[in-house]
Amino acid sequence: MRKKIVAGNWKMNNDLAATNTLISELIKKEKTANADVIIAPTFVNLLEASKRLKDSSIKVAAQNMHFANHGAYTGEISATMLKSVGVNTVILGHSERREFFSEDDNLLKQKVNKALDEDMQIIFCFGEKWEDRSIGKHFMVVESQIKNALFHIKNENWKSIVLAYEPVWAIGTGQTASPEQAQEMHAFIRNLVKENYNSTISEDVSILYGGSVTSENCKELLREEEIDGALVGGASLIASDFAAICRAAE
Ligand code: 13P
Repeated sequence: MRKKIVAGNWKMNNDLAATNTLISELIKKEKTANADVIIAPTFVNLLEASKRLKDSSIKVAAQNMHFANHGAYTGEISATMLKSVGVNTVILGHSERREFFSEDDNLLKQKVNKALDEDMQIIFCFGEKWEDRSIGKHFMVVESQIKNALFHIKNENWKSIVLAYEPVWAIGTGQTASPEQAQEMHAFIRNLVKENYNSTISEDVSILYGGSVTSENCKELLREEEIDGALVGGASLIASDFAAICRAAE
């Protein structure tokens, strides 16, 4: 059975005080959602978030991780470090990591392998740029991003994978994909998983949509059959907006 999931990617926002304030507000609103709710604060606040949410149904995720266990990788964070502060979920492949930190399919494949080895849940992001869509290459781009970094995994690994379609042109722009555009792409992705694995796996995997999701547009997006939840940036920084999106995913 696929799950409804709403994840908030806080990106490089919220210092410790702001993290605590937002978590307190989310805890107050927590009982109103049926979906699995995840927040991804910045690395330095993961321990605090994890402690504060220990007895809550809200899970804490990291926004990135390195593929090695430890060693001379200045500025990087390993899976075991994340797990040691109670974080068992990681966002990989976000377009901002691909764009500003040159993360490519091959590097992401290594990160995916490490996260699976460590039994972590992965929210795997991908999505086309506007220039791809404008010449009709969006399906091809998405297919290659998914295939190159994910389609080597074993059938049993899929229980640890959440897919997140985030068209780059919709991220932080206010230009959300229409429900029809998102539904069309999600159906394509599910079919891709079916063709390369099987229909049980493709029916069970949750596919989230991300890109300018707001408390206003979430209902029409989440109503679509193939959209199992949302990966939310800006609106996840406002407790009432994020809670409204969580409520819409039922
Ligand atoms: P926005 O919701 O701010 O467009 O960001 C989406 C996103 O990148 C989530 O990972």
